Amino acid sequence: MKTSGLQNFLLSRQYRTPHSIHDEDIVLIDCYVANENVQTFLDYGCHFGHLSIYLALTYDVHCYAVDNFTGTPNDKVMANTIKEQTGTYEDTDFYLATMQNIANHHVWFKGSVSLNYAKDFFAIKQEPLDFAYIDAGHTEEEIGDFQRILDKVKKGGLIGGHDLHPEITGVVKGVQSIESQCDWLVKGYTWLMRKR
Ligand SMILES: C[S@@+](CC[C@H](N)C(=O)[O-])C[C@H]1O[C@@H](n2cnc3c(N)ncnc32)[C@H](O)[C@@H]1O
Repeated sequence: MKTSGLQNFLLSRQYRTPHSIHDEDIVLIDCYVANENVQTFLDYGCHFGHLSIYLALTYDVHCYAVDNFTGTPNDKVMANTIKEQTGTYEDTDFYLATMQNIANHHVWFKGSVSLNYAKDFFAIKQEPLDFAYIDAGHTEEEIGDFQRILDKVKKGGLIGGHDLHPEITGVVKGVQSIESQCDWLVKGYTWLMRKR
């Protein structure tokens, strides 16, 4: 089945939850992926996989879909979302649910997706990434992840994410920790920088 970008966009929406990024974020990411010939993309905090599924259906891009697959600690709303999505109250790990979502579409992928637990991802040796997008836990314990992720991005590559807001101090401090090494492209709730 050959699908268009719009069909892929609509199809991938079924894997979004109330915690997911929105249409306008996907459009922004899509513009940069298309215009900068992005070939490797990090979807950090991939959740149920909608963004990686959309990108791999639409472009010849390899997506590293990474999450802890157990939700954000102390976020009860997310815990309920995960229970709804996985259909189980016992198993709080949604790796297999995300894997199933990817498997539903992978035969039509132009690109590819690899799924990794966050704890394993940092140990992987790979070519420097073209684009890393961060939308994970947002806590101050994770500030160091921003530098660890930037270290994996190539010079001239892109790094961005979601939830840059004064009340979300984990993201504010994470962004501050790397901004001197980058040039700003988009500074808002959704943010984007280019690594120098
Ligand atoms: C706001 S949701 C992400 C939504 C996703 N970007 C989307 O558009 O569907 C945050 C995700 O980060 C994951 N997460 C929370 N803490 C994490 C951590 N320390 N490392 C990696 N992933 C984490 C959660 O399991 C959840 O799937």
